[in-house]
Amino acid sequence: MGKTIIVTGGAGFIGANFVYLELQEHPEDRIVCLDKLTYAGNLETLAEAMKNPQFRFVKADICDREAVDKLFEEEKPDIVVNFAAESHVDRSIENPGIFLQTNIIGTQVLMDACRKHGIERYHQVSTDEVYGDLPLDRPDLFFTEQTPLHTSSPYSSSKAGADLLVNAYHRTYGLPTTISRCSNNYGPYQFPEKLIPLMIANALADKPLPVYGEGLNVRDWLYVEDHCKAIDLIIRKGKVGEVYNIGGHNEMRNIDIVKIICEALGKPESLITHVTDRKGHDMRYAIDPTFIHKELGWLPETMFKDGIKKTIQWYLDNKPWWENIISGEYQNYFHKMYGERLAEAEEKA
Ligand code: NAD
Ligand code: DAU
Repeated sequence: MGKTIIVTGGAGFIGANFVYLELQEHPEDRIVCLDKLTYAGNLETLAEAMKNPQFRFVKADICDREAVDKLFEEEKPDIVVNFAAESHVDRSIENPGIFLQTNIIGTQVLMDACRKHGIERYHQVSTDEVYGDLPLDRPDLFFTEQTPLHTSSPYSSSKAGADLLVNAYHRTYGLPTTISRCSNNYGPYQFPEKLIPLMIANALADKPLPVYGEGLNVRDWLYVEDHCKAIDLIIRKGKVGEVYNIGGHNEMRNIDIVKIICEALGKPESLITHVTDRKGHDMRYAIDPTFIHKELGWLPETMFKDGIKKTIQWYLDNKPWWENIISGEYQNYFHKMYGERLAEAEEKA
């Protein structure tokens, strides 16, 4: 018999890619998406899923106990996968409160519902940012599941707080939990506030490409489908109580990513504008994925050179999706986040 899976945050970037993977790979399962539809949630992303009778969308806040309880009562889920979060580091620096509310309290509300109604698995989608950063001059160091939590931003602190709470619910109440900590994702449906889609959208409009500092910070990029496949394996075959790191040993400097995008779009590198750095900017992230490989046989399938081509093509083929986003409130966001930085850079030039 098929399972019922509640996917929170399924109208966002990774959650939506996960919804599509589940509907395709497990047609016997019922997928219920619970999403508040914040600025980052987009129902257009789920338009195809809406046509599938195995899919249901419910607009609700994971912090709303009554709404969450009602949904659990109606659906009696077997598995809950929590993607719902405030996810952008820069926004957390401007306004930490909502990050603590959604990312920590929301996690608690979901787990309380799981305890009350009984579930097979609660899975927390966490991040490699909970480990803090690594120095650039120690390429031999990687984040393992044993690396201590050591956060830099209000975002990563809120995610680490949630992870601690998940482990506490497992130990104290015996809740069957798992946690995954993945590196930077890229691919279709990523909101254009994040590095890769922001640079694609700006380059296509011949606008400045705002690189923080020298652009030497390193991120470990993984194609979103590979992340979703790892979570699919963890919720079905992973061991209760475990933490799984997810990453594909694909470390790249920001500046090199931006240059690749310029080249792919035939845009000049003169668009690159070095702007004031992010406060508390983490230098390097690098995941050691040995454990998930050994335990569950997971390996990334998409090489960066193919994934970035597919991603850029997706943004070219789906202009209405992101043009619609950047035509509204996003303009105010962009002005607030980058206006001063770009003006300063222009003055210096
Ligand atoms: P996103 O910002 O694109 O999407 C977040 C989704 O959560 C949106 O649909 C939004 O409407 C929803 N949401 C926000 N607050 C909510 C609330 N209170 N109640 C219900 N829904 C709410 O985020 P993403 O990049 O898809 O990240 C998804 C998860 O994966 C997050 O938990 C993030 O911490 C984690 N993660 C992201 C990355 C990455 O590179 N993007 C890497 C590792 C882990
Ligand atoms: O590592 C996983 C994390 O990756 C996730 O937990 C977060 O949800 C996700 O947003 C991402 O965090 P980052 O801060 O690494 O991603 P972002 O795309 O915001 O930035 C990537 C790098 O690019 C980072 O070093 C900052 C830099 N950057 C970013 C933007 C938006 C720029 O130089 N200019 C920019 O305009």
